[in-house]
Amino acid sequence: MIKSNVAELLNSDKIAHEVHVKGWVRTFRSNRFIALNDGSTINNIQCVIDFENTEEETLKHISTGAAVAITGTLIESQGKGQKVEIQTSKIEILGTSNPEEYPIQPKKHSLEFLRENAHLRIRTNTFAAVMRVRARLSFAVHKYFTENGFYNFHAPIITGSDAEGAGEMFKVSVFEPNEAPKTEDGSIDYSQDFFGKETNLTVSGQLEAETYAMALGKVYTFGPTFRAENSNTTRHLAEFWMVEPEVAFMDLDGNMDLGEDFIKAVIDDVLVNCKDDIEFLEQRLLQEEKSKPANERSEMSLIDKLKFVTKNNFMRVSYTEAIDILRDSKPNKKKKFKFPINEWGADLQSEHERFLVEKHFKCPVILFDYPADIKAFYMRLNDDGKTVRAMDILFPGIGEIVGGAQREERLDVLKEKIAALGIDEKELWWYLDTRKFGTAVHSGFGLGFERLVQFVTGMGNIRDVIPFPRTPQNADF
Ligand code: 4AD
Ligand code: MG
Repeated sequence: MIKSNVAELLNSDKIAHEVHVKGWVRTFRSNRFIALNDGSTINNIQCVIDFENTEEETLKHISTGAAVAITGTLIESQGKGQKVEIQTSKIEILGTSNPEEYPIQPKKHSLEFLRENAHLRIRTNTFAAVMRVRARLSFAVHKYFTENGFYNFHAPIITGSDAEGAGEMFKVSVFEPNEAPKTEDGSIDYSQDFFGKETNLTVSGQLEAETYAMALGKVYTFGPTFRAENSNTTRHLAEFWMVEPEVAFMDLDGNMDLGEDFIKAVIDDVLVNCKDDIEFLEQRLLQEEKSKPANERSEMSLIDKLKFVTKNNFMRVSYTEAIDILRDSKPNKKKKFKFPINEWGADLQSEHERFLVEKHFKCPVILFDYPADIKAFYMRLNDDGKTVRAMDILFPGIGEIVGGAQREERLDVLKEKIAALGIDEKELWWYLDTRKFGTAVHSGFGLGFERLVQFVTGMGNIRDVIPFPRTPQNADF
């Protein structure tokens, strides 16, 4: 007989039909009722056992976590809480699960405990919901760009360049640490290494994406990126996924429009296609909020927050305006900021970003035209000579979700910038070629995929929205 999944059966009108499902036991109550889940939906299907005709040995092995195959008749449910259930005629234990040892019991586990059991946490409602939403968001990203004329481009993961110039890279080498050959001056001789040069894991696919945009017009990369920054926060990972569109002939205004439209589209997609999971996550968040002091609770429910973002314009504010707002703000005057804002040129910290978004504007904010000194080398210099065409999109509860820019397309200006930063021009010869041959205005951005998943699912810690998080001192599994 054809196997059905639980999602299909719960929506099915095949009452009185014989059905066959496989899944894992979530709970087993009164030696009679199995709540079965197979991952296809947040909801379980109730399977009623005919325990008089079920062998003792089989009954003994029906426990939380066990894998079972069930054959039976789909009937209208007698009990509350579900429309249909399965009157089981045959149950086969596929894989037992010793209840004494199985860590995921049908009770509330802390997120910390579940993080230590990341290989099993996906068997809980919360993580299954988060990861289904994550999967759908990923699809929505590809769908959005494909439908809007972008080509997906696979940026290399091992690179010889440092796109962000922040130097927070993981080295890639085949040398044994103690046996690496040395040059005359005692430094490591990478010319003898696998690639014949120093290489690292990419921090961003942008520079390579730019070369592709200058031929295919509109491209995007969506891949893993790596940063060896020692940030133990709820918003940083050492390995995360970034969505990076890059578009030829598009300026910063176009870039802001694209960023806003893109984020709204993918959120709309999950609101429609992950309804049950989002509703579950909304309830989860509500419970979590209850344990917080009243003044820290969110004023909006998860779904209201998501709809608010899709329905309202993001506020576009220049860095200079933002500094004025921050300088005159209450927390700044009352010295509540850890990093007080005194003058133009200050780098914005997460506390400032969150003040602007959560307290001042109360909506997503796009900050643009940052001081050149605090941004990467590739951003286009404005006519004022001191700001660059950068943009960051800031989200409530998250802070920066997108970082992007109109790129410096003028070869001479770019070369000057590179020289001023002490970067060796030869390392970027191929990048500079895009400015030598048919250069054009172009722009793009990077969206931190996990931060988006955090926002959409309402999860407070970024470690809970990626299957196996990599953070300082932690690369288990
Ligand atoms: O602002 P970032 O550093 O921008 C770039 O890398 C550009 N080259 C992107 C581009 O223009 N194509 O990073 C982009 C986004 C951030 O806004 C943030 O959402 C996310 O990536 N991000 C991180 N997410 C999780 N953990 C980290 N350590 C992150 N660092 C950045
Ligand atoms: Mg940034």
